[in-house]
Amino acid sequence: MDIAKRAKQISPSLTLEITARAKKMKADGMRVVSFAAGEPDFNTPEYILDAGRKALDLGLTKYTPAAGTVELRNAICQKLKNDNALDYDKSNIVVSNGAKHSLFNAFMAILDPGDEVIIPSPYWLSYPEIVKMAGGVPVFVETKPENSFKLTPAEFESAVTKKTKALILNNPNNPTGAVYTRSELNALGATIEKYEIFVVSDEIYEKLTYERRHHSIAAYSDILKERTVVINGMSKTYSMTGWRVGYAAADEQIASAMSSMQSHSTSNANTIAQYASCVALSDKYHGDAFLEDMRATFDARRALMMLRLHRLGMQYIEPKGAFYIMVNIKDYIGKRIEGQRIDSAFDFASLLLEQVQVAVIPCESFGAPEYIRMSYAASEKDIERGLDAMGSFLSQLHD
Ligand SMILES: Cc1ncc(COP(=O)(O)O)c(C=O)c1O
Repeated sequence: MDIAKRAKQISPSLTLEITARAKKMKADGMRVVSFAAGEPDFNTPEYILDAGRKALDLGLTKYTPAAGTVELRNAICQKLKNDNALDYDKSNIVVSNGAKHSLFNAFMAILDPGDEVIIPSPYWLSYPEIVKMAGGVPVFVETKPENSFKLTPAEFESAVTKKTKALILNNPNNPTGAVYTRSELNALGATIEKYEIFVVSDEIYEKLTYERRHHSIAAYSDILKERTVVINGMSKTYSMTGWRVGYAAADEQIASAMSSMQSHSTSNANTIAQYASCVALSDKYHGDAFLEDMRATFDARRALMMLRLHRLGMQYIEPKGAFYIMVNIKDYIGKRIEGQRIDSAFDFASLLLEQVQVAVIPCESFGAPEYIRMSYAASEKDIERGLDAMGSFLSQLHD
């Protein structure tokens, strides 16, 4: 007996291998500095924890509508209106078990077998796997470091075929840290609108931007809004990764398909977490204070990271959003340390961990084989210590 072809085409993650090794080293008592984190190193703010406790006291422990409570969907509509200039009704909103689940539902709702989905590269490693699980075919389009890895209209058009069904736009971007300006989105929007395709706009890092604010491509025009599925969630904005609440905003036909499929698979997202998410979004006073503190902290770490990488002579892409920085390791390919040769970003990350106990993510699975991704969801002390260790590693490399 064989398992499904669908299951066999899902790639195992190289990322997990490095993080699993780093965790094991830590468990064995070694001091590891990790730049691998994909979640903010902040506690969920107290006002949200209080709301979670209150939900239990109120006995909110039963099913809710599959698409989410009316209160939460209304709060999401309000948020989308205030922050993104997008008008939606609660019938356009589907709350799921994290943005990843929202993405899965979205592709299940819009793809037929063999439909192509354009994925600008570098990309978040789950996109191609989710597209494949939903029967689609990922089509990668290279973006350029000189454009800060942002998709241009010409690059987009070069990837469109008769089979194109959707484009994924991740803004702010994981792993590149790119944030599109409004004029860049306008240019992209005008081009995308010429084609009958959907846009899946992953805006999960929306609130973590530096120097410029985020804009949603869905706000470009009513036509594009109708064809766009906006994906967002609580994980990164409110440091609620473990609560598992994400959401999608889409045209009613898509939202209703997503909700029906969810009703037959996972049902509603956790009721207690939905209640807490509603409070998280509605209490602007506490929410804004938390966010501004977290954003300012990340911004200071971003500056420190760039300064230290610059001093080491490493090439990086200046991030404008999220909490990752992509560092080019091409110059170290072919070098050796302790008799072992670096032939890939994976080797670089692997040897860095082994030799100086610093964990970074190799970007092969993100479509950027010459890069590593370093997360600055780490304290300034760890950034200093980790980059000292990285300096020592680089100084030991030889031909
Ligand atoms: C680009 C991107 N989209 C979506 C997600 C998933 O977030 P959630 O925790 O809401 O599933 C992540 C998490 O790392 C991400 O980096």
